[in-house]
Amino acid sequence: MPIKINKTITWVGKTDWELRRFHGNEYSTHRGSTYNSYLVREDKIALIDTVWAPFAEEYVAGLEKTIDLKRIDYIIANHGETDHSGALPELLRRIPDIPVYCTASCVKSLKGHYHRDWNFRTVKTGDRLNLGAKELIFIEAPMLHWPDSMMCYLTGDNILFSNDAFGQHYASSGMFNDTVDQDELFAECMKYYANILTPFSPLVIKKINEVLSLKLPLDMICTSHGVIWRQNPTQIVERYLAWADAYQENQVTIIYDTMWNGTRVMAESIADGMREAGGDTVVKLFNASNTDKNDIVTEVFRSKAIGVGSPTINQGILSSIASLLEEIRGLKFKNKKAFAFGCYGWSGESVKMIQEGLESAGFAVIGDGIKSLWNPDDEAIKACVEFGRKVAENI
Ligand code: FEO
Repeated sequence: MPIKINKTITWVGKTDWELRRFHGNEYSTHRGSTYNSYLVREDKIALIDTVWAPFAEEYVAGLEKTIDLKRIDYIIANHGETDHSGALPELLRRIPDIPVYCTASCVKSLKGHYHRDWNFRTVKTGDRLNLGAKELIFIEAPMLHWPDSMMCYLTGDNILFSNDAFGQHYASSGMFNDTVDQDELFAECMKYYANILTPFSPLVIKKINEVLSLKLPLDMICTSHGVIWRQNPTQIVERYLAWADAYQENQVTIIYDTMWNGTRVMAESIADGMREAGGDTVVKLFNASNTDKNDIVTEVFRSKAIGVGSPTINQGILSSIASLLEEIRGLKFKNKKAFAFGCYGWSGESVKMIQEGLESAGFAVIGDGIKSLWNPDDEAIKACVEFGRKVAENI
């Protein structure tokens, strides 16, 4: 159902309340998501982004009830990923000659996805599209988060259509940042940044400063996922600048997997030692085999240090921990410390392997970690508590 944003803009996207996994199975969406699409009606009419392919028919049918499709003058494809471009084939089947404005890189990704040669008009940063009294100004945003990513700015209304940036996977009836639960909103914003944008943090800072230097007035940020920022829209920009700057809170996250509870006992004993050391550091423990991967990544993002533990199995580590190490390697976290631990029965390679994984993920590894032979006995538990105390002093 279309939602009037202001006199010019109508939201014509899709709220996906059911979505629980995104990017295939890569990203958990506990609170659903939205695919935001905007109709900009001035003398000329522009449609900014569409929705994910499963909703293409529903989307085009809804759009037709809002406007005669033949009256649309321009389509703006800010990004080629299929959650935003998925309805283009259905839409362009109806209006095949309409120009599609996008970056040169987006032509490649759209052709790569759909193998169609639509009426592409490539644009670069600073190019303008006249809609009558107002203009759209295009701003390329390569690698935020795809090479093809772009934003556009509507003069007169002072709206930035930021595409994925500043978004969150959050279905709500509120639609605006000031009409939703603030704790839920910012939890989803942080999870989105941590899991998707962390590796691009240097580019985030550069792009935000570039856009701020244009000194464009900003009344609203219309993202492609989640709420529209209309109340103090720069608050999310400020959060991004903080998150992009090697963000951390006073938190240590201990992540482990365990076969017969030995490594769990080690994790809890290390946490006991950290608590005994005093201070106000928050310590959280998660079993990687039964905790959502993206939620763990968000906790890592918030942490100044992490502990990672696995028993040794087949001269290696448990697959949940191997998967986590691979995940955090790709996210390129900065300025975080780490330690390794794990129990073993005979060969005992796990701690060394975890340390290597943490080092290759860019973490500063503290000491040699700690191992325990078989299930930790009283002496081994004492050693883990002492290890925890030393870790607390070290961070
Ligand atoms: Fe929401 Fe990169 O697509």
